[in-house]
Amino acid sequence: SLTHTTGGSEPTLSTEVDDPSHPLYHHRRIVSDFDYGDILGEGSYSTVLIGKDKRTGKQYAVKRLDKAHIVKNNKVKYVMIERDALSRMNHPGIVKLYWTYKDNRSLYFVLDLARSGELYTYVRRLAPFDLETAKFYAAEILLAIEHIHERGVIHRDIKPENILLDDSMHIKVTDFGSAKIIDENNQQEGEDTAGTRSFVGTAEYVSPELLRSDRVSKEADMWAFGCVIYQMLSGKSPFKAPTDYLIFQKIKNLEYVMPDEFPSAAKDIIQKLLTSDPEQRFGSQTLGGIQAMKDHPFFDGVDWENIFNLTAPPLK
Ligand code: ADE
Repeated sequence: SLTHTTGGSEPTLSTEVDDPSHPLYHHRRIVSDFDYGDILGEGSYSTVLIGKDKRTGKQYAVKRLDKAHIVKNNKVKYVMIERDALSRMNHPGIVKLYWTYKDNRSLYFVLDLARSGELYTYVRRLAPFDLETAKFYAAEILLAIEHIHERGVIHRDIKPENILLDDSMHIKVTDFGSAKIIDENNQQEGEDTAGTRSFVGTAEYVSPELLRSDRVSKEADMWAFGCVIYQMLSGKSPFKAPTDYLIFQKIKNLEYVMPDEFPSAAKDIIQKLLTSDPEQRFGSQTLGGIQAMKDHPFFDGVDWENIFNLTAPPLK
């Protein structure tokens, strides 16, 4: 079970799996099973390091989370959700969680290493991507989102910074720290988040329904996906502004410019994704779900079954 116990004066926080039926229970690992190397990234509550399995030599990204900091800032719930959401995932386009372990100070998540870093870096350096490249990455991102949703999770922070690239330049979606786990039976909000509609995610990619404090559903990830396609083709996100407040104004007013030079199929899919009403947004169940998106002319020629085995288009 997931425990957050306050024994004596020392708060302890554990993400260890003590349920033998849980996929993470077997082959338990400890801190000393790995050699730690370079820092890959740092967040407010965590550091990601390269970790090499001493037995196999295989390298991973090890996310080390500071327990005291998490407890002090009331982030225990989010760490648990991140672990639970990640452990549901099994897809080539999503960072896999192999093991979790802990020591006195920290929790550790052992993840797929995505050596080529963030899609964000390539968008900044190389955008506009040509249509073939944008189509390829959009297709991989869509398959990853499809899997996330099929496994009962809303990511809620889809953006180029959270789309990593592996050695062969295929994507790995990461950072489930803002995710929401949907009740499998009725697809309603879980009790943990029902009623609490605090802002999660990143201003530039936030959906209008979240700003209206409507219920947030899977379609919020589709909005963000539309922002990412726009960004790959233009170099900037559609609702860019100097402050979060001005970004929110633009999103509420659906105030973005569709560049003339975008191919017409791209204009069409972006416009269908950047739709204010989530029920009228492309990808929603009423509009045929993700299958309808795969059938859109923007994705003409995509080999959906095989894309993760193909050679990625060159990002010079
Ligand atoms: N930075 C954060 N997570 C990472 C990962 N899984 N691989 C590489 N760099 C990362």
